Amino acid sequence: MCGIIGIASNKPVVSNIIQSLKKLEYRGYDSAGIATFANGFIDEKKCTGRVDNLEKILFKNPSSGSIGIGHVRWATHGIPSQINAHPHSSEEVSVVHNGIIENSNEIKKDLEKKGYKFKSQTDTEVITFLLTDFLKDFDLINTINKTLKKLNGSFALGILFKKFNNLVVGARRGSPLAVGYGPEENYLGSDSYALKSMTNKITYLDDGDICLLTNNKVDFYNSKNKKINKEILTLSSEKHTAEKGHYKDFMSKEINEQNVTAKTCIKEYVDQIRRDINLYNFPIKPKEIEKIVLIGCGTAFHSCAVAKYWFEEFTNAEIEIDIASEFRYRKVQFKKKNLYIFVSQSGETADTLAALDLCKKNKVKTCSIVNVVESSIARLSDFVLPIHAGPEIGVASTKAFIGQMLVLYILAIKISEVRKELSGPVYVKKINELKKLPELIKKTLLCQDKIQVIAKDFLQARGAMFMGRGLSFPIALEGALKLKELSYLHAEGYPAGEMKHGPLALIEEGLPVVILAPKDKYFEKTISNMQEVIARGGKVILISNDNNTVTSENVRFSLEVPKSDEQLTPFIMAIPLQLLAYHVASLKNCNIDKPRNLAKSVTVE
Ligand code: F6R
Repeated sequence: MCGIIGIASNKPVVSNIIQSLKKLEYRGYDSAGIATFANGFIDEKKCTGRVDNLEKILFKNPSSGSIGIGHVRWATHGIPSQINAHPHSSEEVSVVHNGIIENSNEIKKDLEKKGYKFKSQTDTEVITFLLTDFLKDFDLINTINKTLKKLNGSFALGILFKKFNNLVVGARRGSPLAVGYGPEENYLGSDSYALKSMTNKITYLDDGDICLLTNNKVDFYNSKNKKINKEILTLSSEKHTAEKGHYKDFMSKEINEQNVTAKTCIKEYVDQIRRDINLYNFPIKPKEIEKIVLIGCGTAFHSCAVAKYWFEEFTNAEIEIDIASEFRYRKVQFKKKNLYIFVSQSGETADTLAALDLCKKNKVKTCSIVNVVESSIARLSDFVLPIHAGPEIGVASTKAFIGQMLVLYILAIKISEVRKELSGPVYVKKINELKKLPELIKKTLLCQDKIQVIAKDFLQARGAMFMGRGLSFPIALEGALKLKELSYLHAEGYPAGEMKHGPLALIEEGLPVVILAPKDKYFEKTISNMQEVIARGGKVILISNDNNTVTSENVRFSLEVPKSDEQLTPFIMAIPLQLLAYHVASLKNCNIDKPRNLAKSVTVE
């Protein structure tokens, strides 16, 4: 989960590399670096922290050159420091790397015996020295392939060679890498997002591919040193330059535009005239599906957890949910009549991609729900359902969560209708209720002021708990995840019915406990659980769509959200929790868009 950029041009490249690195910061922001050719040497500059710091260094001590590579890092091997920042260069070679080299320690020992002196704690430096070593005896392509064969793990690389000073070289195995074609220059990028401001003509590298870029030519080779041809794709012309507008940060923009996200998504899938859902060429006949397996990580997994309740409510098919990092290593029984659905905002999450790859190898039917339609997960799956949320820049996922849930909900009702498990009139009613959702989300967003007041109460807290039942349980998990990742406050989400089995011991005087209690079949039970929390001194924040029914002067805050169809409450309940995390983090002066230790696209395991 680092960002790579490379540019081969006939004009100075430093400022374009810096601009692209800024776009890639969502992939990592603990250090940054750049290497260019200048006066016959590799000129390497790097720093800890953000690309702004690198820009300041370059302002004082400029780099020149028309060939260069750049990197933003999310530390895996070695602490974030200037020495561990990429590029890692020898006299002959400079390397930027995304991914993990699993056998770097063994390779390092061999190279040290040969006299190579390592400066950093990274796994990347072994690549630099392997390339340097092979280059003594082999031509360029042989050098790269011999190096790659030594490496275990997944990676995408950008490389400069002093001996080939008109070239930017790329190679991949397991981590995504793309080539972009521009006028009199060509680009290398760890994803197409970084390249989109420069070109919409893209080639994606496959595992084992190597690319050589000059300013006017791109050549591809495979792992057997053979030249190969690759397809050039023209990316969608959708405007991708994400701007904050009048918002303080991307996250507040992304939270506040969720009504538009929902509207766009519904428009894409729901035929307003026929009152039907458009779903053509689905990879498996819905009637034949025996089991649906929903797989994702983090927030995307939470959307799967919500969807489990929907699918179970509407269809008779068996439903299973799985965390991708667990699924990929378990002894799973793959069945032809199962449908495996992968949910990912970025479409690049390493564990989700590996789980999908496993399904492909076992020849079962796959479908992906992604925001980035050009992503690796979208390209690998049999069928893609985009969420149409537009670029999500804030590291904490918000509008993509709403979009993921929405597509899953749409899929659940459509599959159930085709299977005749949902009757025609109920199906139409569900669609009509769904059409009201954007307006309900807009109304829910009006609770900002109240949430700001509630957020102040969290400043003295040592932790917080979130509880709900049924559809509100996964939303409690999501609320806790948002709070911990943004405000660094310990937070846990629980099914309210589970409290007595251990977590109740955590309740102490003043602990904030958020209770999600929409008026559904669980309502009374959740309210009883709330009373148990109050009795033990917990500071209750009740979020419901029917607060009048609850009378307890010991509820510290009671927030009323709009009423909706019972199945749509997760969309409504999620919003105050996103806002709560946002405002607590904001009061604590945390970096909202780039929380510590995290990155937007988790392309390492
Ligand atoms: C939390 C968050 C993460 C992601 C997870 C999966 O706010 O953003 O938990 O949901 O890393 O990412 P994608 O959806 O890109 O696969």
